[in-house]
Amino acid sequence: MSLVLAPALTDLQPGRSTITADVLAGLSQHPKALPSKYFYDAHGSALFEQITHQPEYYPTRTELALLQQVMPDIARAVGPGARVVEYGSGSGRKTRLLLQGLSDPVAYTPIEISRAALLASVTELALELPQVEMLPVCADFTGPVRLPEPAQRHDSTLVFFPGSTLGNFTHDESVQLLRAMRQTMGSDGMALIGIDLHKDVAVVEAAYNDAAGITAAFTLNLLARLNRDVGSDFDLSCFQHRARYHVPRMRIETELVSTCEQVVHVDGERFHFAAGEAMQVEYSHKYTDASFAALAAAAGLVVGEGWDSPAPEFGLRLLRPST
Ligand code: AVJ
Repeated sequence: MSLVLAPALTDLQPGRSTITADVLAGLSQHPKALPSKYFYDAHGSALFEQITHQPEYYPTRTELALLQQVMPDIARAVGPGARVVEYGSGSGRKTRLLLQGLSDPVAYTPIEISRAALLASVTELALELPQVEMLPVCADFTGPVRLPEPAQRHDSTLVFFPGSTLGNFTHDESVQLLRAMRQTMGSDGMALIGIDLHKDVAVVEAAYNDAAGITAAFTLNLLARLNRDVGSDFDLSCFQHRARYHVPRMRIETELVSTCEQVVHVDGERFHFAAGEAMQVEYSHKYTDASFAALAAAAGLVVGEGWDSPAPEFGLRLLRPST
């Protein structure tokens, strides 16, 4: 038998009533929509991890290689004694590179909606980085989150937001989120953000329609998760994954298309779906250097340094408060 010390977890995981309210609001919109943050239950996080290993899904491996390559530059810019706050922690592969590459990071606070994914990654990181205080927070990072204070003093805060997760938000939501990060980092902090860059339609669309069907399973798992956690009765065999790149909007739009006319029940309410009706479930925005700089500026941030990978292009940007 082995004894594993669980890290002190701040648990604000959204409960049934919050999820139900979000689902009812989304299904009452025209066209219908569901929030993509609910993809990430334990199974959804595991499916996303599988997506990152598919040959068509280039963002994760491209960003990992880029991060590894430019890590000395990032460490120099950030300096010693930083506290790292990560929005959406995922598997921890990028975090490991970052924490091992920085000079003497003091503490690590991942904010992650999936408790299972959070505890798994932080438990592993704690073993490899015993000198870094682990302060995980299970929460929806789109709302206000009170961060636990590290025991040791820190020289600065580095917000880490890799994976182009920013792309899952609308323009206005992105500005709001970047503003919240600006608050979190303080006047002498920084944010390191990963962004997927605009490129050939075929390359982008293939990444969200992998041949093995993992992305389709990931999208459909949203319905299974809601059936379990809010008691809805989505029939998974009557919905189909569809992901298309909308070039003028520079984003992948992922939908679940109803393959027949049907009625879905949620919390005593009835929602009618026509055959062929599409429900919006995820955006994945892509950026140009200019479109991202404009987004940052709208949130009171400026791009200090930036690094791009060769094709398939992916970028890392280091931001500071502009005032
Ligand atoms: C959450 C941004 C990393 O939008 O590319 C992958 C999620 N969805 N395939 C993305 C996702 C479908 C992913 N990120």
